[in-house]
Amino acid sequence: MSRVPSRRSFLAGLGYGGAALAAMAWRNPFAALGTGATARGPARAVIDSARYRAELDRRLLGSFLEHLGRAVYGGVYEPGSKLADADGFRTDVMDAVRGIGVPIIRYPGGNFVSGYHWLDGVGPRNQRPTVLDRAWNSLEPNQFGTNEFITWCRRVNTEPLLGFNLGTGTPEMAVALVEYCNVERGTKWSDLRRTHGYAQPHNVRTWCLGNEMDGPWQMGHVPAPEYGRKARDAARQIRVIDPSLRLVACGSSNTILPTYLVWDREVLQECYDVVDGISLHNYYGNTPELTGNSTARFLAMNLDMERQIHEIAAVCDYVQGMLKSPKRLWLSFDEWNVWYRARSGPFRDGRQTFAPHLLEEVYNLEDALLVGGFLNTLLRQSDRVRVGCLAQIVNVIAPLVTNETSVLRQSIYYPYAWALRYARGRVLEVPVQSETYPIRAEGLRADFARDDEVPYLDVAATIDRPNGQACLLILNRDLEAERELVVDWRDLTPTRVLACETLTGPDLKAGNSFVQPTVVAPRAIEPPQPGARMTFKLPARSYSVVHLAVS
Ligand code: AHR
Repeated sequence: MSRVPSRRSFLAGLGYGGAALAAMAWRNPFAALGTGATARGPARAVIDSARYRAELDRRLLGSFLEHLGRAVYGGVYEPGSKLADADGFRTDVMDAVRGIGVPIIRYPGGNFVSGYHWLDGVGPRNQRPTVLDRAWNSLEPNQFGTNEFITWCRRVNTEPLLGFNLGTGTPEMAVALVEYCNVERGTKWSDLRRTHGYAQPHNVRTWCLGNEMDGPWQMGHVPAPEYGRKARDAARQIRVIDPSLRLVACGSSNTILPTYLVWDREVLQECYDVVDGISLHNYYGNTPELTGNSTARFLAMNLDMERQIHEIAAVCDYVQGMLKSPKRLWLSFDEWNVWYRARSGPFRDGRQTFAPHLLEEVYNLEDALLVGGFLNTLLRQSDRVRVGCLAQIVNVIAPLVTNETSVLRQSIYYPYAWALRYARGRVLEVPVQSETYPIRAEGLRADFARDDEVPYLDVAATIDRPNGQACLLILNRDLEAERELVVDWRDLTPTRVLACETLTGPDLKAGNSFVQPTVVAPRAIEPPQPGARMTFKLPARSYSVVHLAVS
């Protein structure tokens, strides 16, 4: 494998679709560094706080809780457990979620929401029906519903993001839910909430107009124009109640359906003027179909996510142009994760039982590294992606897993916790000059089949000027060797290293379990000397964070 890429391969390696930015990065910062061509050896980056992508909206780093498997029952809610509080909420899970500071959580689905009657889940518990959830063929006793979720959100200090049933449900009942949640008093639905013991309105600001309505698997799936008109109808009525709510239309749920991008265009042609954002979803795996079982290809998948973001943004802008609208939509990447082992057959069939073990993906080191890459991508695209949800939060494709006595942190918990803890302020534009390695299209599923060059190092950075702190998050995709990154700071100087940690290990397939809970866990690494030029040493196959005081 060549370690001396051409300028062309370096530009390609900066990310799919990022040629213009890459060319700019090539011309400006590195010319001053005197590195006319990509040299063998350290990667280089320039940090200039005046060059930034966006003020970080922390909703980018949200998560997701669905009525699915043991996510709600046995995850966040388990009355009778020694770990439950007086309301039945698991205190260990609340401590973990509160502890990492998850800013927003999407609820109640997912596929579940497309058959959900929210009225079944409010009011006296002993009058709530047990129903059969057809999304996951499971029993839903409705003991945890909208009000319990909002109460739980307040306890863990997170913002609720609610979804409507636009599958089997009607716009009328969607609007009724907004009235139930947000109107103070004096109307049918707001007074119903008050009789249920919630005198104050919940004031939910952000709402999803359905879930994955492009998917033939979705209850109530219809062609795009039909969904677009239903979303428009719901949104127009909701805006009468409160024009300032943030409404997200359902975009494409993955990149492989034949309707990818067409769905988004057709939906937006119907409802562009009444919505604020459009959703996109994707799940990734190290499979023969998607990566040829190659970890090197797998670790480049955050660049596929980046490409999807560019493509959906392009459709939004196309419709904006067609409609001559002054409004620019933002994106809500409200389901993303690694998910491929516990995905089919018995893993998704609840066999009409209560709280079955579904989608209980066990994560390993390479998954955690890619999750770090996804976080870097989301940060880099934060000018356009305003909401992001790691799917999901507990037990179901999740960083947290419960048993009867404790909560386990899976490998993917750590990069997520770092981004939540350290990414603050402005997300910087960081041109990186890194050697690359090739990836090949042959044999892979069409949406992941590409010939390209992938940089070994993937970098995201934030700067929090008021607090004088900066953070770098760095993925080293080199599976064999440590790599160096030389960072030149233009207009500020690091004075102290506050934290410097890495996630790495000898076995990419190793993961944590209740018996061995810290096989994949962060460890401190030798901090670089602070100063205007700093050299970071990144272990092979690692994701690292460096937190700095700057002046
Ligand atoms: O997160 C699991 C499922 O994946 C969700 O219910 C659905 O929206 C997606 O297909």
